[in-house]
Amino acid sequence: MKKITTIREMQKISNDLSRQGNAIGFVPTMGYLHEGHMSLVDAAAEQCDTVVMSIFVNPLQFGEGEDFESYPRNAEGDRKLAEERGVDILFIPDAEEMYPRPMTSIVKVKQGTDVLCGASRPGHFDGVATVVMKLFQAVRPSKAFFGQKDAQQVAVVSNMVEDYHLNIEIIPVPVKREKDGLAMSSRNVRLLKEERREAPLIYKTLIEAAEKIQSDKISDPVSEARSKLAGLSGTVDYLELRTYPDLKEADGTESGTLLLAAAVKYEQARLIDNVMWNQQ
Ligand code: PAJ
Repeated sequence: MKKITTIREMQKISNDLSRQGNAIGFVPTMGYLHEGHMSLVDAAAEQCDTVVMSIFVNPLQFGEGEDFESYPRNAEGDRKLAEERGVDILFIPDAEEMYPRPMTSIVKVKQGTDVLCGASRPGHFDGVATVVMKLFQAVRPSKAFFGQKDAQQVAVVSNMVEDYHLNIEIIPVPVKREKDGLAMSSRNVRLLKEERREAPLIYKTLIEAAEKIQSDKISDPVSEARSKLAGLSGTVDYLELRTYPDLKEADGTESGTLLLAAAVKYEQARLIDNVMWNQQ
């Protein structure tokens, strides 16, 4: 596995690979790798010739008072995991390389930022879109792989790719879960014992509600699910039913893809999860 720290070198390697007809599959991450990230690597390896993974904890997407400083980091462990799993190129720029000066322009996300995570994390998706655009310029992939755990992020990035005519295919990958259903996340290590014990209830509540929405159009499964989550020790940030990918309000009678998403704030970790399904 090659380790690259500069944008210039990453671009050079990427150009050489493209010239040789190599399709680059890109997996952007913030590290503290787990099986969720690895499922993106597996998908990239299956569909592309060369797998590039980036690890960069992007200050631009953390708001004031959020966990940028304390975001879990494990450079050596990540390097080992990535290598074992067959990542070909690990791109690990530092903040000075990515942001040598304050940005004079950024990607401003205009759709879907007033709902779900966008509503409680103002500026977050501008930070995500901006860094993903910069990473795309460095890696120049054919395909980029994103987890559906961050469904709103997939929608934002797909829209940006369309807006800017980027020649990159965005591939969504299903949520990878622990045995008890909890969505894998780098932030799970920061759950207290009792919080970790109850956290699988988030997913359980979401699937139960999703089933009810599909079968029973009379009661109000979304409010019911919201009250169920209110019984947790964490605070429910949101639990909402939306159309996907345009994230418009939904009442369950719509046809097409629906997204039922929730965020719960625990003492030292904010967890998100969702289920998505297609209905006629
Ligand atoms: P990070 O939270 O490290 O996640 C990197 C990628 O892994 C994202 O596409 C995320 O959706 C995916 N992922 C995380 N947990 C997953 C799970 N349980 N199952 C499937 N996929 C999962 O998302 C980011 O970093 C950043 O916002 C980034 C895109 C790198 C921009 O900074």
